[in-house]
Amino acid sequence: MTQYGYEAELRIYSSALKGVSKWPWPVTSDGWREEAKQRLDAGPFGYVDGGAGMGQTMRHNRSAFERYAIQSRMLSNVETRDLSVRLLEQDFPTPLLLAPIGVQSIIHKDAELASAKAAYNQEVPFILSTVSSFTIEEIAKVMGEGVRWFQLYPGTDKDIIRSFITRAEQAGYSALVVTVDTTMLGWRPQDLSNVYLPFLQGEGVANFMSDPAFLSRLDEPPQNNPSAAIEEFLKVYVNPAFSWDDLEELRTWTKLPILVKGITHPEDARQAQFMGMDGVIVSNHGGRQVDGGIAAIDALSPVRQAVGPDYLLLMDSGIRCAADVYKAIALGAKAVLLGRPYAYALGVGGQEGVEELLMQWKAELDLQLALSGFSKVREINSTYVSR
Ligand code: FNR
Repeated sequence: MTQYGYEAELRIYSSALKGVSKWPWPVTSDGWREEAKQRLDAGPFGYVDGGAGMGQTMRHNRSAFERYAIQSRMLSNVETRDLSVRLLEQDFPTPLLLAPIGVQSIIHKDAELASAKAAYNQEVPFILSTVSSFTIEEIAKVMGEGVRWFQLYPGTDKDIIRSFITRAEQAGYSALVVTVDTTMLGWRPQDLSNVYLPFLQGEGVANFMSDPAFLSRLDEPPQNNPSAAIEEFLKVYVNPAFSWDDLEELRTWTKLPILVKGITHPEDARQAQFMGMDGVIVSNHGGRQVDGGIAAIDALSPVRQAVGPDYLLLMDSGIRCAADVYKAIALGAKAVLLGRPYAYALGVGGQEGVEELLMQWKAELDLQLALSGFSKVREINSTYVSR
């Protein structure tokens, strides 16, 4: 049973009794974004905020959510609420996860250490990016028993991929998220215009610089020749040749559950399911890869239809409020990944900022659920959502 909504409202409103007349944190996604924009330099902010090409996919992600509307049901006794979901045979208190977001050191000095700790404290699974600023092992250490998954960019060097998988297994990551929409970096005008690619400055390469398979490719240690190490990184970290056959081979390298991230076409989802992948994350990478793409929320229902009612589907791209979470679950997702919203919160307040954001999201979702007429997230269905 949760009281997230009531507790958060009380926490905020009762601060008025202590003379507070303006809550010190933003309380909307737009507010967090604006505040982050004030605090971050143009390069890092643009890297987080920008999308591919004309930004059409990013806009579709948002406008599509607004085309779905919830028709609430009343008088259904929602006094006791339960936001929990079951993913990969494990129960989680809310249907929220933190999406893999790379190079977080450009957003805050504590980077993934801060967001992973926030996720742990708020009981939200954390998905660590391949291109993180701290290593697989460093993040595991700060998370203790907290649930963490590892996101893998399947690069060009199989030894490095296998090494990453082994490291993730040994460090207690309980699932692999294989991102398949980033076989190359999309055309990103904001970054091009700012001449800003953080990897070139040695950001986001911690897993590579600590990896025996990667280091064996170098003639000298990275600290002796950083630019040669970065050059080598750029050769291996993504792989335009990656195909279904490679994914099938990758499946044989680990017993960890594998989720395929970056799917929008129902046939691709069906293929992943057919190959024994444990789930799919419907996502267009927040519109950072393909321009003019389908909104992730529009892709969700057809994918759900293709894979049947029980297959594990998660979703991200464009989720900015609790109503979006509700709609995503109604249209077929079991849970959702928060992306940019937590990156902005990290920029605003480090670990504290991400925790505040997560408390707010849990509260809003609790209220959204109840006021729509449901007491359990698992009961949400498409009946009361229309286009
Ligand atoms: C990402 N995303 C991402 N995805 C992934 O699989 N590995 C990664 O390293 C990254 N890195 C990354 C950096 C930044 C700055 C952003 C904004 C996004 C994509 C991320 O996991 C997720 O799919 C999107 O963020 C979802 O879109 P919205 O909701 O954030 O717009």
